[in-house]
Amino acid sequence: MLLLAGALVAAKQTKKFEAPKTFEEKEKIAVEMKKISKQLDVRCEYCHSDAERGLKEGDYTLLTREGEYAHEAMFPISAKYKVECSYCHAGNELTAAGERTHQDMKFMRKYKREKRKTLQCGSCHIPGNAGKEFQRLTKFAKKTGY
Ligand code: HEC
Ligand code: HEC
Ligand code: HEC
Repeated sequence: MLLLAGALVAAKQTKKFEAPKTFEEKEKIAVEMKKISKQLDVRCEYCHSDAERGLKEGDYTLLTREGEYAHEAMFPISAKYKVECSYCHAGNELTAAGERTHQDMKFMRKYKREKRKTLQCGSCHIPGNAGKEFQRLTKFAKKTGY
């Protein structure tokens, strides 16, 4: 019984923590989001399906397919390797680093199909310092000789 009560309290607290963001909090996040939108040359609607209603009314937790992809794949890569979107994206185009990433992603898909093993960027790249973010390679990367 005691354990169950504890679990209920914990659940309630989590819920409270996840309450919708205040307008002020949304405004703060929007500053970063504007930079990202500019780097990709897209509007908020590209990723947020409720953006039409504006920052005050809109529910920015509702994401489009592209928004989901950004959330699941792109934001984590940027965070892990400390690079901005513009490291790989120049509006509609990919930069040289972006093209190389694209090539690596194709290799990762092929590897999964053929070897049934999922690779991460981290299977080959150890985060490096600014200017060399993707240049430190793992033993595995050297071994595959790719
Ligand atoms: C390339 C996709 C993309 C674009 C363009 C984009 N966003 Fe976002 N936004 C996201 C993702 C993904 C999240 C979820 C947070 C995360 O993954 O870190 C988010 C979160 C937010 C949040 C926080 C929502 C909440 O309540 O937790 C706000 C506010 C927001 N975006 C506003 C904007 C505004 C305003 C614009 C246009 C200027 C914009 N975004 C453009 C992808 C995008
Ligand atoms: C290290 C390189 C790299 C970084 C950094 C990066 N991207 Fe990407 N992104 C790519 C590549 C390559 C693709 C194409 C993926 C594919 O074809 O599978 C892509 C695709 C996308 C797509 C999907 C486009 C579509 O047509 O479906 C979105 C949205 C996106 N990126 C958003 C972002 C955002 C937002 C950031 C910054 C938070 C970011 N990316 C940072 C390399 C990068
Ligand atoms: C199987 C190994 C492997 C995987 C997995 C892999 N890469 Fe690479 N990547 C390489 C190798 C090898 C190079 C060439 C490194 C060099 O020449 O310094 C490279 C080069 C790059 C470069 C260019 C670096 C530069 O400084 O010019 C970027 C950016 C990059 N990869 C991003 C990524 C991202 C993002 C992912 C995950 C989506 C990824 N890679 C997954 C092996 C891999």
